[in-house]
Amino acid sequence: MSRTVYVNGDYLPEAEARISVFDRGFLFADGIYEVSSVLDGRLVDNAAHLMRMRRSLSELNMRAPLGDADIVAVQQELIARNALTEGVVYLQITRGAADRDFAFPADAEPSLVMFTQARAIVDNPAARRGIAVISVPDIRWQRRDIKTVGLLASSMAKQAALDAGADDAWMVENGLVTEGSSNNAYIVTTGGVLVTRHLSNEILHGITRAAVLRLSHEEQIPVEERAFSLEEAYAASEALITSASSFVMPVVSIDGHSIGTGEPGPVSRKLRALYIDTARKHAT
Ligand code: PDD
Repeated sequence: MSRTVYVNGDYLPEAEARISVFDRGFLFADGIYEVSSVLDGRLVDNAAHLMRMRRSLSELNMRAPLGDADIVAVQQELIARNALTEGVVYLQITRGAADRDFAFPADAEPSLVMFTQARAIVDNPAARRGIAVISVPDIRWQRRDIKTVGLLASSMAKQAALDAGADDAWMVENGLVTEGSSNNAYIVTTGGVLVTRHLSNEILHGITRAAVLRLSHEEQIPVEERAFSLEEAYAASEALITSASSFVMPVVSIDGHSIGTGEPGPVSRKLRALYIDTARKHAT
């Protein structure tokens, strides 16, 4: 079944959706994106995603073609037209089309593309068994706090993991884990402390991360926001990742080292259940 996608004001069958070959998203990865999850046909934590979208735009001195309320209206229209009950809505804004030049064009119209992807996020078998990750060097640029479409290093990391028979990759810089290929990374120490890297330009400030840390505080799970090494992760009692498209996903093996019991641990399972409950309750 063909999806309906949104391109600069039009709702089109996906095969008819077109962007200029001069679009700076295509030529320079000069664009930003957001992924909001959908549960029961409603958007999860979407206001926070739009806030981060505004920040990404402002860091790049880029403007959005629509205001937030109009963007939400398009997201909801796509959910309705595609009868999406569970999955994600993807949104991408680029600086627009202009003759190729490294300098930002003075008068390009920003381009906005949105589409849906149906996906079982809650009833995901990977969450029941946990995933295996490998470590790879973090070769990305230094503004990982901006959610740009410059994703080749992340894509290479994910492919390296799949080629190695694993599910995903954790990226490592100066001996410390930054984050997953498209998610934030955590461990639970043998003392029961949830550890995830502190916010900086070195990682994306995950919306799911913020929600999971809030839930952890409410549940009185001790949290430390700091960098951790692979050695610390190998010895942890649990490991996990979070993102809009996976929620909370247990990690049961890192570089072939079985983590804890080798099965999804109690903290990961509790946080996943709590996150799903809260997401359902507050989806809009
Ligand atoms: N990825 N870190 C990176 C590098 C990411 O690409 C993502 C999200 C996250 C988690 O952020 P959030 O919780 O806001 O989804 C962390 C999205 C899902 C993607 O690229 O598909």
